[in-house]
Amino acid sequence: MSSSRNSDAAPLRVLGLETSCDETGVAVYDSARGLLADALHSQVAMHRDYGGVVPELASRDHIARALPLVQRTLADAGCTLRDIDVIAYTQGPGLAGALLVGAGLAAALALAADRPLLGVHHLEGHLLSPLLSDPTLDFPFVALLVSGGHTMLLDVAALGDYRLLGETVDDAAGEAFDKSAKLLGLGYPGGPELARLAERGDATAFTLPRPKLHSGDLDFSFAGLKTAVLTRVRALGEAPSEQARADLAAAAQEAITDVLAAKAVAALRASGRTTLVVAGGVGANRRLRERLDAACAAIGARVCYPALAWCTDNGPMIAYAACRRVQAGLAQPRRDYAFDIRPRWDLAELGG
Ligand code: KG4
Ligand code: ZN
Repeated sequence: MSSSRNSDAAPLRVLGLETSCDETGVAVYDSARGLLADALHSQVAMHRDYGGVVPELASRDHIARALPLVQRTLADAGCTLRDIDVIAYTQGPGLAGALLVGAGLAAALALAADRPLLGVHHLEGHLLSPLLSDPTLDFPFVALLVSGGHTMLLDVAALGDYRLLGETVDDAAGEAFDKSAKLLGLGYPGGPELARLAERGDATAFTLPRPKLHSGDLDFSFAGLKTAVLTRVRALGEAPSEQARADLAAAAQEAITDVLAAKAVAALRASGRTTLVVAGGVGANRRLRERLDAACAAIGARVCYPALAWCTDNGPMIAYAACRRVQAGLAQPRRDYAFDIRPRWDLAELGG
């Protein structure tokens, strides 16, 4: 049976809002008919001048964008608020001000339309997003969650049953991409820019460390890599050649993806699972996908990725996660209409 739609439960239509960081995402997901419509506004251009996300600007932009996006998404889905069963929003983790915008708007819409409200864990949204893309995918699996703020390996036994196998002890993989990119003089967000530059580079031109590659556990550490890149950048002097920058970008990407692929395979071995699911923004990285495809093929494991658009933050993952949780009886949408956010929220606290 397809895992992405639950045909046993009563049909459910969810409006989902994502505003945890620098993307305003909205979607309508219907358990019987799938994704009906979605819309996204990225704030990347606005934050670029500052070299990173400015929280106050992010909140203000969400305020301006969210309601028009909701109206457009409902129109695209061919429905009104009255046709929605549950209104879901990203409750955390994320930027407090940005989360408040989504929570406030979701509560207002829910109150206006007399519909229940549900807060969703942002990382669970990422974690389940590959199920949206691939209807043949089902639990259990190992998840490699690689976003701007998190790097985790999880044993996902079932919906809501997430056991942490390993995580970063310092920087996240996304941060390693972003910080290396910054050191190389690239713009924000650094990950995709570094990946683009790396395409013209020779990864063997520089030797960079693979922190914790042989640590024997499933934890990661990327802070040392950033320092190593800094040392190489300084050694290149004031005006490094375009080729040297591309080579260093390729070497950094190779070091990061090397460790991610090796630990993902180790997690499959340790857990006995045969499917790897990749989620989060760094999951869009082409070299990472090549490495994981090869590593999983070598051990006869299956690897699944979300569609590229659903690697980074988006509305469909929030609507979908809410729908799955409600249908499974793991979450009870509420009618108290509180501005309830959790900027810091451990995935392990989700429980059943
Ligand atoms: O999941 P996400 O959109 O936001 C968080 O929840 O953090 O992930 C954003 C991260 C950023 O660090 C960004 O540079 C990285 O994902 N990223 C990439 C690529 N696309 C996004 N890193 C490497 N290669 C990419 N193609
Ligand atoms: Zn995210």
